[in-house]
Amino acid sequence: MSVGVIVLGAGKGTRMRSDTAKVLHEACGRTLLAWVLGTVEHLDVERSIVVVGHQAESVTATLPPGVDGVVQEPQNGTGHAVRIALDGFGSLPETIVVLPGDMPLITGEAVSSLISHHRAAGASATIMSVELDDPTGYGRIVRDGDAVSRIVEEGDATEDERSIAEVNTSVYVFRTGALVEALDQITIDNVQGEYYLTDVIEILDARGDRVTAMTVAPELGIGVNTHAQLAQVSDVLRRRITSKLLDSGVWMLDPQRVYIDATVTIEPTAKLYPDVYLTGSTTVAAGASIGPNVEARDTAIGAGAVVKQAVMMDAMIGRDALVGPFAYLRPGAVLEDGSKVGTYVEVKGSTVGAGSKVPHLSYIGDTTIGENTNIGAGTITVNYDGYAKHKTTIGDRVRIGSDTMLVAPVIVGDDALTGAGSVITHDVPEGALGISRDPQRNVDGYAEKRRKRAEREQD
Ligand code: UD1
Ligand code: CA
Repeated sequence: MSVGVIVLGAGKGTRMRSDTAKVLHEACGRTLLAWVLGTVEHLDVERSIVVVGHQAESVTATLPPGVDGVVQEPQNGTGHAVRIALDGFGSLPETIVVLPGDMPLITGEAVSSLISHHRAAGASATIMSVELDDPTGYGRIVRDGDAVSRIVEEGDATEDERSIAEVNTSVYVFRTGALVEALDQITIDNVQGEYYLTDVIEILDARGDRVTAMTVAPELGIGVNTHAQLAQVSDVLRRRITSKLLDSGVWMLDPQRVYIDATVTIEPTAKLYPDVYLTGSTTVAAGASIGPNVEARDTAIGAGAVVKQAVMMDAMIGRDALVGPFAYLRPGAVLEDGSKVGTYVEVKGSTVGAGSKVPHLSYIGDTTIGENTNIGAGTITVNYDGYAKHKTTIGDRVRIGSDTMLVAPVIVGDDALTGAGSVITHDVPEGALGISRDPQRNVDGYAEKRRKRAEREQD
């Protein structure tokens, strides 16, 4: 049986108090809408249509290939939204699944068992419901034994109906023919003056169609209307991500204190210490040890690398490299295998060659460092003259003395050295020592002379 999916995402999300469309808010690195669309990825779906309205263009721009947006303008309610979506299907599938765009905790398993439940019951409509201690605000499921006779919205419910704990999640499966016929009969005769999708249920029941509901764990039905709920769903998603990683063989000292986006890949045997925040396309290879206190965005961390107290963006860290404590790797930082970027070191747009070390207090920008080179403490590549950025090239087996200023553009050849405290403004040839500093002179007895002068001035 062919299945089509309709995701409702036209609503404004007023209570988010945000300029961003509600469904574009992110939880664990994916938009709410992307999470919902992710649940249907593994189902055999003929076509998915997202109903967009508020910020239609920016929402549509995020849709993956094969998912289409249809614009609902104005937003006249969930029934109206579904009707508009149905018009977007060329030929109608036999079964329609409706999902709200703001419920990222729904799982693919729950949706597919809802479809099975629907088919086994031979139903025209099947509702995914949850039982809540506090059902305030939700549509209540009014049952007649096993069958559902209607859904009543909070504002339209009687005192008795408001005490019903079973509520509508807004996830449904419909027999398309029945849905189309029932939608033709819904009206705006309700408190909000909108076309309610929920009214379809009563219409189907009244004409003798079978309507059922399947109850799932309350957690699955949490919708995001506020930032508090966004934080709540993020927390659940985060726990799902970390427990999957733990099962796969990733070690964590404290799973509550790692923050890993759904977009991140971590190999088994990697180790995560507390307060690790990994986002974007970050990857962590086997045996790498990350944290405590590491933030990495779009960064590839190689096998066996050790990273402590560091912030990294768009960087690449080779096998067995060492980073930190207290390092800052900015876009384009490439640390080749076995290299080290140590304490209070910032690297941007630069390659640190295999086995090379930048251990302490340095800024390395727009630089290429060869292999097995050592950069002395306090070295700075002076890459910016106030107008343009310039490149520094340092060869293999070089020893840059402490506190060297390498004024770019400049090249230091293989096996060369620089004297500590030098300001290097010219290239240093292969194997040479580059040194630029005043010769030292000692003034004998200076301390004594200075003390006497001070005493004279006080008299
Ligand atoms: C709806 C259900 C309610 C259910 C609740 C679960 C109706 C009438 N009520 O209420 O039974 O308990 O969801 O969260 O359906 N949307 C559109 N176009 C519109 C209106 C809404 O696309 O014109 C979208 C919204 O973006 C949202 C979803 O539909 O993703 C639900 O709309 P919302 O206004 O949040 O409905 P509720 O009042 O929460
Ligand atoms: Ca809602």
